[in-house]
Amino acid sequence: MLNPVEIILKKRIGNELTLEEMFFIVNNYINGNVPDYQMSAFLMAIFFKGMSKQEIVNLTRIYVESGSKIDFPKELKTVDKHSTGGVGDKITMTLAPIVAACGGYIPMISGRGLGHTGGTLDKLESIPGFNTFMTEAVFKEKVLNHKLAIIAQSADIVPADKKIYALRDVTATVESLPLICASIMSKKIAEGSQNLVIDLKVGSGAFMKTLQEAEKLADLLVFIGESFGQKVSIVFTRMDSPIGYAIGNALEIKECIEYLQGKIIPDIDKITKTLAVEMLKLCFSISEAQCVLKINEVINNGTALKKFEELVSIQGGDPNIVRNTSILPSSKIILNIVSNQKGYVININSQQIGYSLIKIGAGRTKLDSPLDMGSGVYFYKKIGDFIEVGEIIGEVHCASEKAGNEVVQDILNAINISETKVFEKKDVIIGIRNVLNQ
Ligand code: URA
Repeated sequence: MLNPVEIILKKRIGNELTLEEMFFIVNNYINGNVPDYQMSAFLMAIFFKGMSKQEIVNLTRIYVESGSKIDFPKELKTVDKHSTGGVGDKITMTLAPIVAACGGYIPMISGRGLGHTGGTLDKLESIPGFNTFMTEAVFKEKVLNHKLAIIAQSADIVPADKKIYALRDVTATVESLPLICASIMSKKIAEGSQNLVIDLKVGSGAFMKTLQEAEKLADLLVFIGESFGQKVSIVFTRMDSPIGYAIGNALEIKECIEYLQGKIIPDIDKITKTLAVEMLKLCFSISEAQCVLKINEVINNGTALKKFEELVSIQGGDPNIVRNTSILPSSKIILNIVSNQKGYVININSQQIGYSLIKIGAGRTKLDSPLDMGSGVYFYKKIGDFIEVGEIIGEVHCASEKAGNEVVQDILNAINISETKVFEKKDVIIGIRNVLNQ
């Protein structure tokens, strides 16, 4: 008879676990026979000791097989993207409607806030009525008929990731390559997508702080994809400044709608279009120039926005938000962030900003922490921008003035300023590893 303590100990001293041992501890955790404290210790042991490639493949398989796997007809052009997590990362909401409007089928299982990063599901659930839970059959029907649906892990679909993801969020066990790999790839394999593009974030607001670490994660993600017959391309994107200007659930949805309505937001535009090109290339045998033409067409003629409206509507949300964003939750208190320094922004500790927002309810500290969907921040500056003393560089939207003032201070502390301009602005796209070119 296996014993969870022995399995934890075996990993704690860095030994390789068998499939049977991992299956035992993960499945007993899902059934409630292994308590949170033992699973937390197990996750921390993995965090410190890592896992072999074979262990990661096994863990991913155990996650996938903890629920049902969805299958789509082979001839359907299924494609998805997943981000490794960033601050202000709202790209799913701009990208998925564009790719669906261009003809791709996107069966997306997404995640909630994790560590200092926000989650797509939390953002979507800030839309009144939006429902991210549905049965496998309903999910499949929505993807087949509407080309796009976005759901949460559930008791039926990757329940292992559902429970372990939430536990990692509050036990400081997020930034582990094996755990990130199994978490991402189990969702993407269970959803039945043939093709996947990973938005692999690198920098102060990402889990991977250096390109070297990010490349290691990329190798693993591609390897796991191949092991399960999925084509995986990687786009490395810079995550030093929060993406766009809004951070916080409803504020980010509003910003996505504005982008799809035609507002120019340079980093959102660049990341969205780069990922869309990679997704379309995986689905259709068309050139990059043809992809770009299609993408611009569906944004400019409004079909991408219509797709977003359709997504909201088929998932029970109020579709009127695309015409009237004031329907979204909002905050009573708005505090200005006023600069007390003058110079060029040379560094933003985006992770610190992400964690700070938890103070006003935009993220969680406990498994069951409620979210304040209207809370968040507008931050107008990017690395390389100039700031004057007394300039308003952002706003904090919150329900408590005390917590909001702390966030104002945290954000001022998170930015580093230099009197002299020391570098040129860097492209938000660091590099692309396209599976078709390998
Ligand atoms: N996204 C996920 O789904 N899981 C992780 O662990 C990190 C990012």
